[in-house]
Amino acid sequence: MGGLDTRISGLLGTRYPIVQAPMAGGFTPPELVAAVSNAGALGSLAGALLRPDELRDGIIAVRRLTDRPFAVNLFAPLPPPEVDTEAVAAMQAVLAPFRAELGLPEPQDVPSPAPPGLAEAQLAVVAAERVPVFSFTFGAPPLEQLREAGSVILGTATTATEAVELERLGVDAIVAQAGEAGGHRGTFLGPFEEAVVGGVVLVPRIVDRVSVPVLLAGGIMDGRGVAAALALGAEGVQLGTAFLGCPEGGTAMLQRSALAGSADASVVSRAYSGRHARLVRTRLVEAVERSGVDPLPYPLQAVITADIRAAALEAGRADLLLVLAGQGAAGLRELPAAELVQTLVRETEEAVGRLAGEG
Ligand SMILES: Cc1cc2nc3c(=O)[nH]c(=O)nc-3n(C[C@H](O)[C@H](O)[C@H](O)COP(=O)(O)O)c2cc1C
Repeated sequence: MGGLDTRISGLLGTRYPIVQAPMAGGFTPPELVAAVSNAGALGSLAGALLRPDELRDGIIAVRRLTDRPFAVNLFAPLPPPEVDTEAVAAMQAVLAPFRAELGLPEPQDVPSPAPPGLAEAQLAVVAAERVPVFSFTFGAPPLEQLREAGSVILGTATTATEAVELERLGVDAIVAQAGEAGGHRGTFLGPFEEAVVGGVVLVPRIVDRVSVPVLLAGGIMDGRGVAAALALGAEGVQLGTAFLGCPEGGTAMLQRSALAGSADASVVSRAYSGRHARLVRTRLVEAVERSGVDPLPYPLQAVITADIRAAALEAGRADLLLVLAGQGAAGLRELPAAELVQTLVRETEEAVGRLAGEG
């Protein structure tokens, strides 16, 4: 199987050690998750932004569409942000010209974060539903209930130190989120600046320090990337951006064309949500970065930019989008999920075969 039969496929109960990354914000609906799992990889439902009832409905919908293993993903509970009205006013002033361009009214309300206790309530749903695989990022939630529910547990690390800590907490495998990765940085220990580490460095650093298997996440868009991850010592891969091209997902046409046309315009910024995240560098991102105004603390920045994001999509304004994506975004292929999984497997086997001198 060209190196594709690893401890990760055994642990996850999948044919291939390939995971479709959870992508909060409507990008990984049950149809995508189930299509990936039915194709022999592991689909992941992003639950972090869902109310507990929506999360339960999502899990039930996945189960209706597949009898294969799948994952549900949550964020570790974070302390609520302080709302500083002066800081809100300063950021609203940066955003005002873009609202004017889009014909949006000036917002009257001060943003409010998610209700307290949401993360705990989401966790209770995931435990009660006894999901096959549970994955998380931004630190570590209490894992006892999930362990009792029999879920395989995947934690996200952006440094070797974080990986060692997650192993100590009892995860079954580690998702090594490299600097190339799209979306929010999962960093939870130490300074963010020291935790944007390319995959070529990160995977060997982690596999040398933990005994649980490791998946590489970040920048993998085709089978060459999968083969490279395996060569580095990873036993699986997690791909997010590559699955944004699947018609079963929730990516709008405009977002897909922004990704495919993004060339190398990728940046890690707090402009989207207040937390460091890799996204496509659009005019809006540049304006927030250049303003010198500090983005609001996570997730308030996402709350105050929500109307602009929605209106930009509606108006077809790619320059005003905030699109989370990895450094490989320009390599996006618009393939149905099953075809993407099969293509990745074929390309990986070809790449491994080439290295073995078979072709
Ligand atoms: C649009 C988007 C949303 C994401 N949302 C989540 C999430 O909800 N939970 C999570 O653990 N990771 C999330 N990630 C990060 C992925 O798990 C993964 O680290 C990343 O997609 C890998 O890099 P790649 O996009 O280059 O494949 C997100 C990534 C993207 C692109």
